[in-house]
Amino acid sequence: MNQPKLRLIQCGVGGHGFGWVRDTSSQSPDFDLVAIVDVVPDNLTKAGEAADIPEERRFHSLEAALAAVDADAVLTVTPPAVHIEHARLAFGHGLHVMTEKPIAGNIEDAREMLQLARDNNRQLVVSQNYRYSAAIQTLKALLHEGAIGEFGHGHMDFYIPADFTGSFRETMEFPLLVDMAIHHLDMIRAVTGRNIVKVTAQSFRPSWSWYQHDPGLKMLMELEGGIPFSYSGDWSARGRITSWSGDWRLQGESGSLHYEGHKILLGRCEKWMKNETLETVEPLPLERSGVQATLHLFAEAIRSGMPAEISGEDNIHSFGAVMAGVQSAQENRTVELREIIGEIHHRGHRE
Ligand SMILES: NC(=O)c1ccc[n+]([C@@H]2O[C@H](COP(=O)([O-])OP(=O)(O)OC[C@H]3O[C@@H](n4cnc5c(N)ncnc54)[C@H](O)[C@@H]3O)[C@@H](O)[C@H]2O)c1
Repeated sequence: MNQPKLRLIQCGVGGHGFGWVRDTSSQSPDFDLVAIVDVVPDNLTKAGEAADIPEERRFHSLEAALAAVDADAVLTVTPPAVHIEHARLAFGHGLHVMTEKPIAGNIEDAREMLQLARDNNRQLVVSQNYRYSAAIQTLKALLHEGAIGEFGHGHMDFYIPADFTGSFRETMEFPLLVDMAIHHLDMIRAVTGRNIVKVTAQSFRPSWSWYQHDPGLKMLMELEGGIPFSYSGDWSARGRITSWSGDWRLQGESGSLHYEGHKILLGRCEKWMKNETLETVEPLPLERSGVQATLHLFAEAIRSGMPAEISGEDNIHSFGAVMAGVQSAQENRTVELREIIGEIHHRGHRE
């Protein structure tokens, strides 16, 4: 039986928000897009025309939209520091909230958002869309099926010379760590089924970088169960590029799993380099991927009253790891997650 559609207001229809409104929120089988909001009039016009949203449903503030239309939920695709303002307004009106990543501009705002969701008995979901690619879901399935035996340690490389001239990333502090590595740390948690418990980070700005702050990062993490996982990246690196999801090596007792050059590879090799093999694994078919998947999970959470696997409560472990990285880089020391988010509630990983 088809369920009635939920009513959605989308805030932020700029760079990423324009793609959201044109391809996903206005086309959703779960939601009717009842209003769009942006503080830049040209962005509102362009998005309204692309998604066929009439002028009377385009607003310059969320407050104005809430006063004019009935809705069930708000999606905010605005700069991270704005998410808290939209969450306060939406929860205050009894609506459910989905934010783009990173959940907020700082850990205090993120905690407040979690508390508001709890106090108002509403769903808070973070659109960590990178988790929902065929490659990442396949790596997760292979690891948990035991394709490489006991999992021992991992590494990820991320090198892309991105240019965000004119966007908030050009001037923000720790652009790679906060705005991009949030995806990578979230995927590491999703694939391994383990939270990050400790972070030691060195953040840097290569001499040639066009960012005001650090687009470079070397980071060592410890996952639950004492598993080391290293990360190396530069968002201003010219030369050979990785995928946006990073290039991965997951090392197990009987082999290694890789995501490299957009291919999933399963490596085997016995002691002294005997019988070396490298098999390409086809990605699993997915019913929904990327933001289509996260928007559907948001609808399911609202309808069932059960938190999504990308709930705010889950996301605090990814965002907390990012913020532990920031603190580690600033203070030049190892930072434990519990310093940032309090005691970690272990989810029970699959071994
Ligand atoms: N998941 C992904 O793959 C992905 C990709 C890109 C961006 N993002 C995230 O999406 C968010 C937005 O990034 P972007 O690249 O679209 O930024 P952007 O600067 O291109 O667009 C942000 C839009 O928000 C609008 N805005 C700012 N303050 C507002 C307010 N108070 N009310 C309504 N609108 C407001 C701006 O006018 C602009 O149109 C960020 O959290 C970013 O990290 C996610």
